[in-house]
Amino acid sequence: MKEPQILIIDLSSQVAPVIARTLRDLGYRSAIFGPDGSEKWLKKNKPRGIILSGGWQSVYSPDALNPPKEILTMGIPILGICYGMQWLAYSMGGEVIPNSESFENKNYGEAKVKFSSLDTVFEAIDLPQLVWASHGDSVSRVPPGFKEVGWFQPSNAIAAMANTEKRFYAVQYHPEVTHTEEQAGKRVLSNFLERVCACEKDWSAGEIITKMRDEIDATIGNKKAIVAYSGGVDSSVTMALALPVLKERFSAFSSETGALRKNEMAEIVSNARSIGVNLKVVDDSLAYFNAIGKALNAEKKRIRFQSVYGPRLDYEGELFGASFIFQGTNAADNIESGKKGESGHIKSHHNTVKTKLKKYNPLQDLFKHEIRALAYKLGLHEEIAKRVPFPGPGIFLRINGIQVTPHRVEIVQWADDRVMQIFKRHGIYDKISQCPVNLNGVPTVGIKGDGRSYRYSIVIHPIQTMDFMTSVGYQIHPSIRREITRDLQKHPEIVRVLYDEGDKPPASTEWE
Ligand code: XMP
Repeated sequence: MKEPQILIIDLSSQVAPVIARTLRDLGYRSAIFGPDGSEKWLKKNKPRGIILSGGWQSVYSPDALNPPKEILTMGIPILGICYGMQWLAYSMGGEVIPNSESFENKNYGEAKVKFSSLDTVFEAIDLPQLVWASHGDSVSRVPPGFKEVGWFQPSNAIAAMANTEKRFYAVQYHPEVTHTEEQAGKRVLSNFLERVCACEKDWSAGEIITKMRDEIDATIGNKKAIVAYSGGVDSSVTMALALPVLKERFSAFSSETGALRKNEMAEIVSNARSIGVNLKVVDDSLAYFNAIGKALNAEKKRIRFQSVYGPRLDYEGELFGASFIFQGTNAADNIESGKKGESGHIKSHHNTVKTKLKKYNPLQDLFKHEIRALAYKLGLHEEIAKRVPFPGPGIFLRINGIQVTPHRVEIVQWADDRVMQIFKRHGIYDKISQCPVNLNGVPTVGIKGDGRSYRYSIVIHPIQTMDFMTSVGYQIHPSIRREITRDLQKHPEIVRVLYDEGDKPPASTEWE
């Protein structure tokens, strides 16, 4: 599959996925990355257009997010949305007035915009349009080379600007949301994609599924294939693509590593069943514990994990007479393990394991949000489509600084389960992209039942991210934090609960 033609630079917006979904509705694929991921991706790919998402920050914040500066000189058309417009104006010599000085120009919710109808992107928007806006700061003077092409009514504050020579456009509202009327919304986006960027339609979930299945048929022919199923959205989509093509020439198994979350194997088996697969489960936990042994170093743990995982793949492949192994590796996994872009080798993904089987990665060019969209199209149930990722080596990576033992894994399983239940109870589970719950091995002193306790602390790292290349720490409400702390401290071996609200970069999602 060809690379997406549009790059969405996510500047910490709630709505970046909505932009991507609206582009898909219009028939176009997109890649979404934060600023760092974008920089890496742009070294290898030349999109036809770049969209800068909104974001909650001000261009004047000391930690304001900045897209890679070079996008301004690459000759690629840009559409800035909301904060994206402010960044574009500010970076190119225009003027942005901060919220504190311009509260009259603040806009939250519905607003009305009148457009100049002479521009390619905003052409023939005859009547003022209702749009959805949400911004504090606003652009008060457009940069040299730009002209104003839209104004909020009745204030006449700038709502859209264009530099047709450079092919840079920007709007101070959200064209991607359904509350924005068609002409100022979807049509502005499709004009930008078609007339300015000359994109060709490349997304139709139905067509992609048919194409992928044809490719599977052509590549595997009458040979057999297996999949090591993790229950997650990537391997579920992989399996749902392959199964109807390969039928009885396809077999799936899942390995109990001993480091899954509480009740996870039951969930994996039920997910497989919902896709129509009777999963074979093999218990390798003893082998994994033996292999991990006394390793404390994360990379060593990953390599030792592979030393059990690889032979298991070979064994299952041979047993079934398979030549191929299907994997759910996606576009971001390839970047993190150094296969795409300029990123170095950050960690050994378990899918890079050596095996005698030929690897088949049908999803390697797709991003998580696209795979989730395929999951819906394939009719997989919502729990699968929305499932949070979990690393292959699992809780082995979440026991830090002391040896992994089955008992310590149990403590993490218990704590993880309690934390997820509390998240669900307070309705924040779906807002958090992933939340490693770690056991910190440095002993710490506490008092339990009138006695001295010298045991562990638990570290919780909730994050929000679109692409898992960059992330922001999720701030749990203090009252929920308190509930979690008090709940976990009931465990006889948990003395403290610590909260890691760090962003990536520099801190990765997993502690190891
Ligand atoms: P980091 O910690 O690099 O994680 O920010 C990014 C995403 O990758 C997952 N991850 C792994 N997945 N094997 C996997 O299959 C691994 O060794 C591994 N390490 C990290 C992590 O959970 C997050 O979703």
